[in-house]
Formats: sequence, C-alpha cells, structure tokens
Amino acid sequence: MKDQVFQSQKSREADFDFNPEVAGVFEDMLERSVPYYHEVKSMTASLIRYYYEQEAGTDKKMIYDLGSSTGALAHALSQKFEGTPFYYTGIDNSPAMVEKAVDIFSLNSVCPEHKIQFLCDDIISFNYENPFVFVSNYTIQFLRPMERLPFLRKLYQSLAPGGVFLMSEKVLENNSGYSRAFQKLYYDFKKENGYSEMEIAGKREALENVLIPYRADENIQMLTEAGFDYIDLYFKWFNFASFIAIKKP
Ligand SMILES: C[S@@+](CC[C@H](N)C(=O)[O-])C[C@H]1O[C@@H](n2cnc3c(N)ncnc32)[C@H](O)[C@@H]1O
Repeated sequence: MKDQVFQSQKSREADFDFNPEVAGVFEDMLERSVPYYHEVKSMTASLIRYYYEQEAGTDKKMIYDLGSSTGALAHALSQKFEGTPFYYTGIDNSPAMVEKAVDIFSLNSVCPEHKIQFLCDDIISFNYENPFVFVSNYTIQFLRPMERLPFLRKLYQSLAPGGVFLMSEKVLENNSGYSRAFQKLYYDFKKENGYSEMEIAGKREALENVLIPYRADENIQMLTEAGFDYIDLYFKWFNFASFIAIKKP
C-alpha cells in the first residue's frame, strides 16, 4: 500500500509512531524514504551468510533482527540461504509491525530449514540466547541516546566469539557544509520518489525528537567503547551509513 501518512494534518502534528497506520504502508515508506534500502538489506543478508558459514560447527546460532518491523530482512535471508538452514528471531515492540510480519510469513511458504520467528518485545531488556549475529537496520537511531552505549555493551557481551553486529543508521556529518548539502540531496531523493514538500516537512517535524542521528565517527566510537574488536563502514550514501562490528573469535 502507498504511504500517504503525512498527507494528513493529524500525523503532521504528532510525534512519529510505529502505529498500525505506519505498519500498513511500511514497505512503501522505507523503499521511498531510505536510499538503497533494498541493496542494504541484500548486503546485510550476504554478510550474514558469509559469517554464518565461517562458523559451520556451531549449533543453532541465532540471527537476531533488532527492530524487525514487517520482517523484510527475514525475506532477504530466505533468498540468500536457499537450501541452507538458519535460525532467525525478529524482535519489535510495535504489535502492529509484529502482526504484519507474522501475517506475511504465514501467507508465503517458508523453507522448513529456515527457522523464523517474530516476537513482540523490547530489544533493550530482552534476554538473548545463543546470539551469533545482531542486525539493527535503522533502529538504534530511535533509542534514547543515553540507552545506546549500555545497550551495545550488552549486545557485545552476549555475542558468541567471532559474532557479528551489523548496524545501519541515518547519520550527521562532521562539517556543516556537507550536512546542508547531504540533507538537500536527501530531500531531493524523497521528492523524486513522489513525496510532496508538505509530506517531507511534516515527517521531518514528526521525527524531530524521535529519530536522533549520530555522526558516523560517533557511531564508530560508540561501537569501540562497547567492546567491538574490528569495526568498519561497509556502505555509505550521503547521510545514511552501514557499519560492521565483530567480536574477536
Ligand atoms: C525504522 S524501523 C526498522 C526497519 C527494519 N529494520 C527494516 O530494515 O525494515 C525501526 C523499528 O524498531 C522498532 N523499535 C524501536 N524501538 C524499539 C525497542 N526498544 N524495542 C523493540 N523494537 C523497537 C520500531 O517499532 C520499528 O519497527
């Protein structure tokens, strides 16, 4: 369904929320609002498959998708792991998102070797069992800044040795000139994808106190302080960046 959420006055006046209206149009919203959304999802799935295969001996190692929304990553993993088993748990605290993810997967037949489940829970307090991969695509930016470092420490400490954390985020730039340029190019991207000036401005205001981006170097610093041993940027488009962080084997 087409995203028209910010055509309504009511949405423009309230803080952004992952409510049933947003869940109903979420795939279209992300495809038209996140540059290279499809490619990043596919790269994330490829990286997971690569590292999963390096650890062939480990039993039932879990891929945790933090803020799994409607389960788009599980779908990409099913394609990348064709004929090969994997264990995936998507966690999201929006009941509407989880309900939609479950509906999509009950309609589409899933390979029996692919163990996929979705849970409605809080990623911060969740008790992770046997995690080998954590993925957070565009979710950490929605956590309160003071919660982020303790949460990433928790992820690092619960990860198996050799385990991987993949994180994509909207980011700010070090230099205000670049920030202005990248922001303008990002709004152009949204306009090219059919959003009006009013929808773009309305969503920006609704997200103002809800989505708080860090600079890429601040994210790298935070991953370092959390304990990760090898950290790199694997993709960047203007003000969107994807990071990989590994725990030493
Ligand atoms: C931008 S969406 C993530 C998109 C998704 N990863 C994808 O690539 O399609 C952020 C998601 O995180 C969820 N979320 C935010 N804070 C959360 C928390 N503390 N616990 C669980 N889920 C959370 C929201 O409900 C929302 O579905």
